[in-house]
Amino acid sequence: MNAIETALVNSPPRRWLQHYEAHALVRLGGRTPGARVAEVGCGSGYGTKLILDQFGAARVDAVDLDPAMITRATRRLRRYAGRVLLAQGSATDLLAAFSGAGGGKDADYDAVFDFAIIHHIPNWRDAVAEVARVLKPGGRFFFDEVTATALARPTYRLLFDHPGQDRFTAGEFLAELPRHGLHVGDRWRTRVGGDYLLGVATKSEPTGGEQ
Ligand SMILES: C[S@@+](CC[C@H](N)C(=O)[O-])C[C@H]1O[C@@H](n2cnc3c(N)ncnc32)[C@H](O)[C@@H]1O
Repeated sequence: MNAIETALVNSPPRRWLQHYEAHALVRLGGRTPGARVAEVGCGSGYGTKLILDQFGAARVDAVDLDPAMITRATRRLRRYAGRVLLAQGSATDLLAAFSGAGGGKDADYDAVFDFAIIHHIPNWRDAVAEVARVLKPGGRFFFDEVTATALARPTYRLLFDHPGQDRFTAGEFLAELPRHGLHVGDRWRTRVGGDYLLGVATKSEPTGGEQ
């Protein structure tokens, strides 16, 4: 992220907006009481706090590529010691990111949260595949994303720095999910003419014939 986006992400308006997004996600997919959760791209940890307080998760393993964000999140989440693991690494390799603490294995988590980060990842389909890999069958993927529609707007292009190629529209993101066994049904909404996408997908349960 460039300096302008970093400043915005760490600002009070972003925290207010994230609070609203969390409410919308609860309405779409319910809370996660007692759950073991992973969060990709935790930034300064405000979403992690919402996952613990508002969604009721028991524990969150959170990753961010930027070590400065992990430092901020560590400060913010000090009072949740024992319930949070913060790691520097990539959302596309959670096993490596959480290796020291034994997280990021196949079917490890009841829920995974993505608060506006997958659109930053050049190989974004790999991030979706990684979310699906670490979810338990029946586990939920909560996502809040910025689409190609928003990224193409002059303000976004002028102010922020995102990968230029192969960004996803809301429809393309939703179409990718079932390729990884993630089923969203009608639990999604777009905002501001398709600029933003929020939703909750559930990982398929194994079918009766599987061993
Ligand atoms: C727009 S910010 C969102 C931060 C926070 N989730 C929020 O909603 O305020 C995107 C975050 O994704 C992180 N990020 C970008 N690529 C990543 C990757 N491959 N793996 C993990 N985090 C990544 C950035 O460092 C940044 O903190």
